[in-house]
Amino acid sequence: MRELAGKVAVITGAGSGFGLEFARAAVRHRMKVVLGDVQEDALEAAVREMRAAGAEAVGERIDVSKPEDLKRFADRALASFGEVHLLFNNAGVAGGGGYLWESRLSDWQWLLGVNVMGVVNGIRAFVPLMIEQDCECHVVNTASAAGLVSAPLMGVYNVSKHAVVTLSETLFHDLRVARSRIGVSVLCPAFVPTGISDSERNRPADLVESAPPTESQAMARKQSEKAVSSGKLTAAQVAQQTFQAVLEDRFYVITHPKMLPYVELRLQDIVQQRAPSDPFTYKPDVKPG
Ligand SMILES: NC(=O)c1ccc[n+]([C@@H]2O[C@H](COP(=O)([O-])OP(=O)(O)OC[C@H]3O[C@@H](n4cnc5c(N)ncnc54)[C@H](O)[C@@H]3O)[C@@H](O)[C@H]2O)c1
Repeated sequence: MRELAGKVAVITGAGSGFGLEFARAAVRHRMKVVLGDVQEDALEAAVREMRAAGAEAVGERIDVSKPEDLKRFADRALASFGEVHLLFNNAGVAGGGGYLWESRLSDWQWLLGVNVMGVVNGIRAFVPLMIEQDCECHVVNTASAAGLVSAPLMGVYNVSKHAVVTLSETLFHDLRVARSRIGVSVLCPAFVPTGISDSERNRPADLVESAPPTESQAMARKQSEKAVSSGKLTAAQVAQQTFQAVLEDRFYVITHPKMLPYVELRLQDIVQQRAPSDPFTYKPDVKPG
């Protein structure tokens, strides 16, 4: 998209972290914003903040894992502003770390429901509207660096984010086949301090796990909390880079380019048909080959 002012941005997971920063950036670009989140108090605070900054903003409580909520969200966006131009399928949760053979079905249901079906539901609710509008539009899906490599003890999250990368790549191809002008970007950040380590705050009651964590699950949790809290890039910087990619119509948004040697190593493992390398133990100064 070359021009953002006056256009409508729709953001899922807008109450915290990247989503909140996307909303702030959209407002700085003088866009109208439609904010969605499952956490009502955070959503209300975000809407208040955007209005106080002078923006036209509406909020809708949605659970992205539910297709009917995304349909209602799209109806609300159209009823409020008549059009939608920039969609952020961003809401996501982390958890389910530990050995895969110890993974819990409730973790699979929760993470795949939010991280994968949330994006699917967003695409199904909004892309047909964008196609019908036939004007400059763009979809940003929040995946992760975990969607580009396969780090140990993060199996459930890795699967969900690899799914978002391939969903985004396929959406890009499908739109070209359909001769649509809609742009697509996939955001793949490494660890950034946000509310992600506290994702359990929004876990649905029917998927809450009462069993105590196994040793591998406790280790994975400690490891990911430490990595998230020590991330150097801020969520605001991630949002700024993402808006730059939208303006440049760039597909891959790689906010941590230090990740790229690990991605290259994985691809070389595939091309050379050798065993997968562990991205956590690989030292990137040794050139993959
Ligand atoms: N922070 C990181 O290190 C990091 C790295 C890579 C990717 N990501 C991804 O970024 C996205 C945003 O996460 P964040 O880091 O800003 O975390 P966050 O917890 O700060 O924000 C996530 C938001 O999504 C909302 N949410 C959770 N479940 C929802 C549901 N079912 N329906 C609607 N909203 C829901 C939460 O209430 C919250 O406001 C996620 O997809 C996450 O997987 C985060």
